[in-house]
Amino acid sequence: MTTPASSDLQEQFQAAGGKPTYVRGMFGRIARVYDLMNRLMTAGLDRRWRAFAVRQLALGADALGLDVGTGTGDLAIAAIRSAGPRTRMIGVDFTTEMLAIGRQKLERLHLADRIELRQGDGEHLDFPDATFDGVCSAFVMRNLADLPAGLREQYRVLKPGARMVCLEITHPPGALFGAAFHLYFDRLIPLLGKVVGKSFESYRYLHQSLAVFPRAPELKARMESAGFTDVRYHYLTGGVVAVHVGTKPTV
Ligand SMILES: C[S@@+](CC[C@H](N)C(=O)[O-])C[C@H]1O[C@@H](n2cnc3c(N)ncnc32)[C@H](O)[C@@H]1O
Repeated sequence: MTTPASSDLQEQFQAAGGKPTYVRGMFGRIARVYDLMNRLMTAGLDRRWRAFAVRQLALGADALGLDVGTGTGDLAIAAIRSAGPRTRMIGVDFTTEMLAIGRQKLERLHLADRIELRQGDGEHLDFPDATFDGVCSAFVMRNLADLPAGLREQYRVLKPGARMVCLEITHPPGALFGAAFHLYFDRLIPLLGKVVGKSFESYRYLHQSLAVFPRAPELKARMESAGFTDVRYHYLTGGVVAVHVGTKPTV
């Protein structure tokens, strides 16, 4: 079962040879400006959102965590900073350009011994069952071609009793704030992307991909369908983003 997309987006995916190829190409093109654009678009709030998400992950000492769609590594870095001693993270992403920027950052921050970045596909994770003490992702789920497959894979590689945390842009629940948010996202962000990143289309995709992404209660239901229990979500910043948390049951 694939994530539906608007006909406009479907055409773009088809022209690129499929959604994964389109997404990889797009992040490859914007990798250089990705971190800067995040700070500008969110006025720095993305750091707070990631900090909130990794607090929900609550990795203790000596744990091994996975960051799916790690990109330039910011969520994995936040996770290590809030985790217990000797905890390690593996970040997986299918865009080599994003990983290259991430690796430079890890060297600069002296974190390369605690965070390993690997090329891989979030829909087919190259790890045995029950490997990780926590699995997280930020701004990735919208980009998956097959959301249920991505959720099933995260479930599979988690140890029983461990948590999955997902930070993603969502649809703000309030009508007025929601309308203002969509206007900002649909009109201003692509312009900013054009000026800073020389890519109007890539940042227009951000809004287009949200339009067809499940709302927070629906994503909760999808997580439950994948097997997660005790699933809950937190709206942050008026519901601009949501952090979903689920647990892999012990039996
Ligand atoms: C919006 S970026 C988020 C990066 C990072 N998580 C962050 O917090 O900034 C989305 C990332 O997901 C990656 N991605 C999308 N689909 C993927 C898949 N199926 N497998 C691996 N990586 C994927 C993209 O390459 C991109 O780096």
